Amino acid sequence: MRVGILGGTGPAGKALAARLASAGIDVVIGSRSRERGEEICQQLRDKWPDHNLSLTGGENVEAASTELVVVATPWDAAAATAAGLSQHLTDKVVISMANALTRLGKDFVPLMPGRGSITAGVQAAVPAARVAGAFHHLPAHALGDLDHTLESDVLICADHPDAATTTAELVAKIPGLRPVHVGSLDAAAPVESFTAVLLQVNVRYKTRAAIRITGLDI
Ligand SMILES: NC(=O)c1ccc[n+]([C@@H]2O[C@H](COP(=O)([O-])OP(=O)(O)OC[C@H]3O[C@@H](n4cnc5c(N)ncnc54)[C@H](OP(=O)(O)O)[C@@H]3O)[C@@H](O)[C@H]2O)c1
Repeated sequence: MRVGILGGTGPAGKALAARLASAGIDVVIGSRSRERGEEICQQLRDKWPDHNLSLTGGENVEAASTELVVVATPWDAAAATAAGLSQHLTDKVVISMANALTRLGKDFVPLMPGRGSITAGVQAAVPAARVAGAFHHLPAHALGDLDHTLESDVLICADHPDAATTTAELVAKIPGLRPVHVGSLDAAAPVESFTAVLLQVNVRYKTRAAIRITGLDI
């Protein structure tokens, strides 16, 4: 399977790219600039020489031409970026990991985007794709540190059951991550908003908090 990441050059996208590639998945890191996409790939290969990471850098259109596409741009660019590539996303599963957040003084606070969540906004922007929300709560620093074993649930929401299933299968390929289905895209608003809570915890306790649902035997 090849996974493409739109905006894959930022901390979140490149961390996910490294982690997926370390699990044996071919990843295309997309960017608005081909050079930047290639530069980030080289940076990751140099950083993790023992992992044989299968990474290709390119423009976002190349990332959008893979089988499974992740949107990892800033929240206010996610829907527009997907819309601009809609012809390449038809009939594909697209995963949105963007969180609409801002700082208010020392606090991280969630914003309420149109349609209630960024994930729902991406689905509306590319109606011919099947959009799932996932990976919102994984801090880039931990996700991208391949020396560090992850231990987290990944909450997945989608209106299309097969988008949720495909996303869960991808999550399950990463050691230490457990996919948890949390419902339709109506669940994306609280999932995305909760990221602000986790960031507050990280600041308060100087840690990298992650989600773990208890009482779940799966
Ligand atoms: N950072 C985290 O720990 C974390 C964790 C979970 C989820 N997230 C979410 O993941 C997303 C990415 O986070 P990030 O910290 O990696 O963000 P970022 O560095 O601000 O942006 C990621 C990439 O998006 C591209 N980009 C920037 N502005 C753009 C625009 N106006 N239009 C299209 N592309 C643009 C840039 O790539 P090019 O210049 O190469 O095109 C940039 O490297 C965010 O929505 C965030 O909420 C972040």
